[in-house]
Amino acid sequence: MDFGRVAVLMGGRSAERGISLASGGAVLNALSGQDIDARGVDAGDGLEQFVQGAAFDRVFIAMHGRGGEDGTVQGFLETLGIPFTGSGVMASALAMDKYRSKLLWRAAGLPTPDFMAIGGDYEAAQVVETVGLPLIVKPVREGSSFGISKVTEAGQLAAARELALGYDSEVLAESWIEGREFTAAILDGEALPLIELVTPHEFYDYAAKYTADTTRYLCPVDLGQARERELQALATRAFAVLGASGWGRVDFMLDSRDRPWLVELNTVPGLTDHSLVPMAAQAAGIDFSELARRILATSIH
Ligand SMILES: Nc1ncnc2c1ncn2[C@@H]1O[C@H](COP(=O)(O)OP(=O)(O)O)[C@@H](O)[C@H]1O
Ligand SMILES: [Mg+2]
Repeated sequence: MDFGRVAVLMGGRSAERGISLASGGAVLNALSGQDIDARGVDAGDGLEQFVQGAAFDRVFIAMHGRGGEDGTVQGFLETLGIPFTGSGVMASALAMDKYRSKLLWRAAGLPTPDFMAIGGDYEAAQVVETVGLPLIVKPVREGSSFGISKVTEAGQLAAARELALGYDSEVLAESWIEGREFTAAILDGEALPLIELVTPHEFYDYAAKYTADTTRYLCPVDLGQARERELQALATRAFAVLGASGWGRVDFMLDSRDRPWLVELNTVPGLTDHSLVPMAAQAAGIDFSELARRILATSIH
């Protein structure tokens, strides 16, 4: 397949810039190694070269977080008529927004922890009554666990909200799920083998994700084939309900009674050689080069 001239778009200005540069670098390396005419473009340097036109035939979006994963760059490329990888404008914007993702999942009858938005006029007692304790507070549109904290008593809510407000103007409180954490990588609309994430930290925080050497990733998982299939089906439904396409990653948990709870959908998850989607692909016999090529092929609709 001739992909033509490919831009691997990375960097940008989001809090996840550094991770995006690592993802983009790994993808660029993988594509270049298989005779694909790919060039890295740092979105932080401006996107004029796209507007001037004819420089690229398609774009591999390797940007995480706002400005890259949230529909804005997708809309920009859509307007220019340049094909790009992964989800379109609507699903990208929706998945970036944890509050509205959860509203839709609920409406579709899919399980996601109880939640409420906590604006400036919130009342701690009402939040506790709605979602219970402990709870978890998150910025509505952020990633990499930035601004997230666990709250075990009502008195900690204000500080948790303040921390989240450092990352987004909207903040969400959600019931704390005590149990196991998993992720389902999605490629071409189908779930790859599940991965279980095990960390001694209170939750899968920034350090557990990127710097700690104590995080363990279990793949294959020990759930039994039938259960794994069910959970993969839940993940692909969660992906489809938000209108996502191409590839992505659904984070979910299993509580102490083994019930699943959807946490979030990432439409441009990490793609470094230590990332979760490449790990799941590997378990399915898809090496990083093939994964990069197959994700690139999602730009062809
Ligand atoms: N409801 C919850 N109960 C317990 N832990 C949670 C819950 N929601 C999130 N977490 C923990 O916080 C981490 C980050 O939350 P997530 O919603 O995935 O945000 P991010 O977009 O920053 O990855 C998760 O990987 C998980 O470890
Ligand atoms: Mg997550």
